[in-house]
This record gives sequence, structure tokens and C-alpha cells, in this order.
Amino acid sequence: MFTNRDDRMSNSLFTNNDGSSHSSSSTQDPQMESFPLSRNMYRNCFKTMGANKAAELLRYGKSKPDCISLAQGEGTLPTPDFICGATNKALSEGKTFYSFGAGLPELRQEIATYYSRIYNVQIPTNRITVTSSGTNAVHYALLSILEEGDEVVAVTPIWKNLIGITELAGGHIVEFPMMQGERGWTLDLDQLFASCSSSTKALLIVTPNNPTGWTMSAQDIKRVTEFARERGIWIIADEVYGRCVHNDVRAPSFLDYSGDDDRLYVINSFSKSWAMTGWRLGWLIGPADAEDKIRDLILYENMGPPTFNQYGGIEALRHGEDFIKSQKEMWVQNLDQVMAHMDRLSGLKMVRPDSAFYAFFKVEGCKNSYDLTKQLIDEVGLSLSPGAAFGNGFQDYLRMCFAVCPDTLAESLDRLEKFIKKA
Ligand SMILES: Cc1ncc(COP(=O)(O)O)c(C=O)c1O
Repeated sequence: MFTNRDDRMSNSLFTNNDGSSHSSSSTQDPQMESFPLSRNMYRNCFKTMGANKAAELLRYGKSKPDCISLAQGEGTLPTPDFICGATNKALSEGKTFYSFGAGLPELRQEIATYYSRIYNVQIPTNRITVTSSGTNAVHYALLSILEEGDEVVAVTPIWKNLIGITELAGGHIVEFPMMQGERGWTLDLDQLFASCSSSTKALLIVTPNNPTGWTMSAQDIKRVTEFARERGIWIIADEVYGRCVHNDVRAPSFLDYSGDDDRLYVINSFSKSWAMTGWRLGWLIGPADAEDKIRDLILYENMGPPTFNQYGGIEALRHGEDFIKSQKEMWVQNLDQVMAHMDRLSGLKMVRPDSAFYAFFKVEGCKNSYDLTKQLIDEVGLSLSPGAAFGNGFQDYLRMCFAVCPDTLAESLDRLEKFIKKA
């Protein structure tokens, strides 16, 4: 259905971080030859990480005035008033000073209370660190364990940034893909375990998953935990969509099967469930003996998240359940709308996810999801995420975030339909 219709992807859109084009080898200044140290000014990892083409396309889409962007993982609802109110109050009371590096003790306690109430697990506060976003929590987790060249086996498709963060921390990513079947995405655990070698330091798993909405079962979480424990491998579990399960209160968690000393980091965030993407607030749960390592990292990183934002976080955890419920209702209604379109449009294949708020669908005949993403922006003013950004083997997929108001979604689906029918 979709071939490379033409080669309209402008070279200037896809350049390396240093401004050079991908195909051109770096030009060498002969004068530099006598100063070998000056030649390689930036860290090598910037080369291996490569340019983030998806991020470039996102910026490109946002630069077009009438383009609808459903390429980012956030909805159109602003943070609810009761959360903003707590932060406004903190600001007006002068809570503008440095906080404790690992977070306000009240917030760490509130996170522990939240886990006890919603997850029925008891986490001591010394295992909890408040971070400046889920992204920041992943950084700390990986920086505390990776030596240069350590292998990290990542279940894909996966949010692109997690691969970049691993590489930035010196790790080497080994991708292990899930499969899309008729009834949903599946992960072959035996094969996953077989792909771990003696150099594997960590398993990186996002559950519920961005982009597929797949959720690891409790049984599989238990098996992975036992395997990792036996092999001395770390588990980095990104559970930022843990409350975004459509038909349940929460997804199974790695915390359900771990003890205080297991090599487990769980990443979480206020961004998704409480509509707080711009706050940059999250948390990290690690083993008991990680506390001082994380504390050191924070000390030399950013000295902890903004103090006043943390008061908003406390309020979100204390009184956010009704809001989460209303978000879920909206996601499910939106998903019904998406599925109705997908079923009608030949050439698109998607299985209904039971978590998160992404439609990750296969486009028959698509050879290059970056090109296709750009064509969508240029031809119908719709910006989605290219599947290739989520790992090898997903070149014929696109991701659409449907956590938006119904009108925006309806208009986006119409634009997608127009594009597909024209192709
Ligand atoms: C799997 C996953 N982890 C982490 C994040 C980042 O969360 P935060 O906004 O807290 O950095 C995202 C954002 O899209 C995500 O999809």
C-alpha cells in the first residue's frame, strides 16, 4: 500500500546532533591532526545514540500552524485545580527553598502510603526517592549500576528515550521484540531469558507498555523476578503507566514479588495518571542499599525536584483517585472511537490495548515510518510517532496518542482516514 512515494524527506530535517548530515563523514581539519585530544570534542555515545529522528519530526509537526500533534505522550487536559492549588499555596507560603535531595519526607511518606493503599505492598520510605520526572528516575537507576559497555536487554517496542538514556549511561542495548498476534502482543519469556548472556547487567521492561499497551501478567512478572534473582541481573521496571489500566485499578507490579534487597528499580511518574507532564515530577523505588548511591547522584545532578511542585504531588496522591477514574473513562471512550476507525480502514492493523492511551498500529506496505510520518504532516496536517523510533522491526508501525479531547481525536481520525484512502 505505502511505498516510498517519493523522497521528499528533506536532508536538512535529518541531520546529526552536531549539525552534519548522516551520510557525510565528518570533515577533518588538517590543523587538528597535531591536537588529537581536540578532535573528539564530545562523548562518543552521542554518535551511537544517533539523531532522534522522531523528536525532529515532532518539532517539525509542531512548527506547522494547523497540524494536530498526537505524537507526544500527553493529553489535552491541564493538571486539575486541586493539585495546582497545593503548589500555589506552597509558593505563597514561601516554600521556595532547597528541598531534601531525595524529596520532601512528607512526599516520600505519601508515596509509601499510596503503595500500601493501592498496591497493597509495604515499601519503607528509605527505598523511595522523589525525582524530577520518570525520565530522571531512569537516569538515576541506570547511572547507579552500569559500567561502560554493560549489556541491557530491553523488551521492545519501547519508548525511544529509554534506549538513549541507557546509551548515555554507557550501557549497550540488546533489543528483544514482542510479537503482535491476532489477540494481542506477546512476549516469549523463554526466548527472553535465552537472550540474556553473562554480560547482561539488566533487563529493561516497560509495563504497561508504551507504545503497545501490553501489560505483563502477574505470573510472568513472578517468573522474570525469579530468573533475574537467580542470575543476579537487575530489573529496571518502568511502571509509569501502572494506573492506566482500562479495566482494573492498577497493573501487576514488580513490587508485588520483590523484597527489600532484590536488584530491582521501579520507575514511576506523576506525568500520565495525574496529567502532570510539565511538572517534571516522578519517583524511583530501589533496593534498601541503593539509597546512598542515589542520594550521591542527586547531589551532583540537580539536588532534587522543585520544592513547591512536591506539594502538588502530595495532593495528587492523596486526592487523585476520582481524577484517575475520569481519565480512564475518557481513554476508554476514545479507544472505542479509534477501534471503530481501525476496523473500517483496510491496510491498518491494530489489536485493542487494555492499558495506556496509545494506538500502535501496523500500516500495510509501509517501508519507512519516518517518511510516512512526514507525509502525514505535510499532506493532512497530522503528526504521529514513527514506529521505527520504538526499536528495530517496527518500521511499518505508527503510534497515535488518544488521550485528547474527543473533538480533536475525531478530527485526527478523519485526517488519517483521508490520507489512507488517498494512498
Ligand atoms: C515508558 C515511559 N517512561 C517514562 C516516561 C517519561 O515520564 P516523565 O514525563 O515523568 O519523564 C514516558 C513518557 O512518555 C514513558 O512513556
